[in-house]
Amino acid sequence: TPLNADYNLETPINASSGIRQGLTAYGDPHFSLFLRKVFIKALGYSEDALSLPVIGIINTYSGFNPCHANVPQLIDAAKRGIQLAGGLAIDFPTISIHESFSSPTSMFLRNLMSMDTEEVIRAQPVDACIMIGGCDKTVPAQIMGGLSANKPVLPLITGPMMPGSHRGERIGACTDCRNNWAAFRAGKVDVEEISAINEELAPTGGTCGVMGTASTMACLTAALGLIPLKGASAPAVSSARLRIAELTGRNAVATAKARRTPQSIISKESVYNAITVLQAIGGSTNGVVHLLAIINRHPDLQGKITLDDFDRIGRATPMLIDLKPSGDNYMTDFHKAGGMEALLLTLRPLLHLSALTITGQTLGEVLDTSRFKPFPFSTQIIRPLSNPLHPSSSLVVLRGNLAPDGAVLKASASKDRSLLSHSGPAVVFENTEDMAIRIDSPDLEVTPTSVMVLKNVGPIGNPGMPEAGLIPIPRKLGSQGVKDMLRISDGRMSGTAGGTIVLHISPESAQVGSALGVVQNGDTITCDAEKRLLTLDVSQEEIKRRWTEKLGTPVEQARKRPQPGRAGRGYRKLYEQSVNQAHEGADFDFLTANGGNQ
Ligand code: FES
Ligand code: MG
Repeated sequence: TPLNADYNLETPINASSGIRQGLTAYGDPHFSLFLRKVFIKALGYSEDALSLPVIGIINTYSGFNPCHANVPQLIDAAKRGIQLAGGLAIDFPTISIHESFSSPTSMFLRNLMSMDTEEVIRAQPVDACIMIGGCDKTVPAQIMGGLSANKPVLPLITGPMMPGSHRGERIGACTDCRNNWAAFRAGKVDVEEISAINEELAPTGGTCGVMGTASTMACLTAALGLIPLKGASAPAVSSARLRIAELTGRNAVATAKARRTPQSIISKESVYNAITVLQAIGGSTNGVVHLLAIINRHPDLQGKITLDDFDRIGRATPMLIDLKPSGDNYMTDFHKAGGMEALLLTLRPLLHLSALTITGQTLGEVLDTSRFKPFPFSTQIIRPLSNPLHPSSSLVVLRGNLAPDGAVLKASASKDRSLLSHSGPAVVFENTEDMAIRIDSPDLEVTPTSVMVLKNVGPIGNPGMPEAGLIPIPRKLGSQGVKDMLRISDGRMSGTAGGTIVLHISPESAQVGSALGVVQNGDTITCDAEKRLLTLDVSQEEIKRRWTEKLGTPVEQARKRPQPGRAGRGYRKLYEQSVNQAHEGADFDFLTANGGNQ
């Protein structure tokens, strides 16, 4: 572009890319561009630089987010890749969410981050955008937002942390946080030892080093075709991770030129591949909610892929990955065993190879050029189809009068498999406060065959669907050696936890008319994972009667959605009015592809 071309009022501005796109502010595009250049030149850019395609980089570094500690280095490396490929890299922030620093819950903020991400991608003149995320809620929030904005977007994942070491044994966040804390509570670990363990559980920056939610989402992002396969598992502190960032920069320029958008990459086939991977890795139950939210952001997929598809695919998919919490190892082991590339090669007969990836290659073409031929070279961490850890259905979907819209059980993480088919009397906690007060009381009427029920931890109920689904074993049973019980709720569970835990019951207990909302102590609850059943031995009439009694009005006349609760304003009000149910992804109804307009 000759220097003065932008000031020729007779010639329309070529607004197809770079800083010249989206000049709508003043009804005078030449003046809008003139002003835009005034301000960006304050950062020292030349006309040459400003003539290039602009690749945005979303910077989610935060002093409260150690899972994103390497973001500055990733930005440097991504910029190098962008410049090598002839683009102009411009980084900018969005909010950043860490699990431990997001009160009341990180899930409460996921949709806010997705809105921030969507709107800044849409607002700013980027031809493509690299989205750097890693901690549990950040990657789904970014994919949701990027999918809705539908400009070319490229996730770049921060990567897992290294395992630590305690008395010669490897330990890592956060499965071992829970084991060791339970041992401390039981008096098996003393105060000096638990404080030494505290120093080693997260020995480097990066995401939790087991197959928790962050690692699960990284693997699903690779399965969706959005990142290079190595990008799911390379450690946060490795040079490989920086090379992935550089490659992502290069890919971003090519993706911008091809105008390859996420809605064109993510398809029924790629989502089926992601669900297959979720089942094969024994992934986090949170992955189910996030993937449903992603599905329902896509205009072609909304409502067309449901919990039933997760269950159907699960029945045909063996669990192959031996990582905590379902198995024994760490993400670094998965990476050394070949990571997603080796896993997808193993799963090849179950995959839709025609699914497109970010580079324009199909998944089949990506696997054809694998560096792992002949394959396999190691089957310790990534088992062959013929010798799985768990034959099928690591995640199962239950239905019945207690969960008409579904519930999720991570069967592979059950510690007492007899509980996968179990009937028992309910011991009900109305909410987390009630549970905290009574769970360890010597007076609690509970036996190992009881079914513990926790209410009001669903999307609306808490708000933000906290990870409270892992109801602790009451101390009086724990001290007798009881390790697992059937526990059910409308909440979520950390991807790093295990037990026979039924989660995401939909509709949630706060939803007027729900069976879960009126379960009482002593009601018989039956879970049958084989038959996919979750039932309450109480008639529909009795459920209605209990609701009428609870509300003081006939249930038909009551609003389905509870009135906004304790905080009547701000984001929380928006959240309570708009969040949908777990089986829909716990997204805001107005953010889904159809905007909540049926
Ligand atoms: Fe960030 Fe676990 S706390 S990934
Ligand atoms: Mg987590």
